[in-house]
Amino acid sequence: MLYVTKRVEFSASHRLFNPTFSDERNDEVFDKCNNFFGHGHNYVLEVTVCGLPNPETGYVIDLKKLKRIINYEIVDKVDHKHLNYDVAFLKGIIPTAENIVVTFWKLLENKIDDGKLFKMRLYESEDSYVEYFGDSVNIPLYLNSESK
Ligand code: NI
Repeated sequence: MLYVTKRVEFSASHRLFNPTFSDERNDEVFDKCNNFFGHGHNYVLEVTVCGLPNPETGYVIDLKKLKRIINYEIVDKVDHKHLNYDVAFLKGIIPTAENIVVTFWKLLENKIDDGKLFKMRLYESEDSYVEYFGDSVNIPLYLNSESK
């Protein structure tokens, strides 16, 4: 099996808070990330596709094609957006890197025709990243807005 990776970047802002928590608890849990008007990150997303090279092209997947798919399905929807308010598929979700990468996986997994989506790595900063292999089911992304 071979593994090919495309890296893309986007910039976005977010605020980490749980609306069912008190202000004190949000401060305690999320600290600076709970800043009322949000804060920004230059995110880096790496998408890895696995498969065997097509004998007619030598490619597992044409990386130009992979880049087009990632831009269309993900980057165009989140770049220069506020992830709490501007992005439909993140509504009702605390936009941590963990939760974001799971939603990205769902957007992309059925869009890859050559090879198979194997891994996503989302960097929130140079030193911090989350990896997801799509292997978990029923991750509880959505906050229950009923509860208080
Ligand atoms: Ni942040």
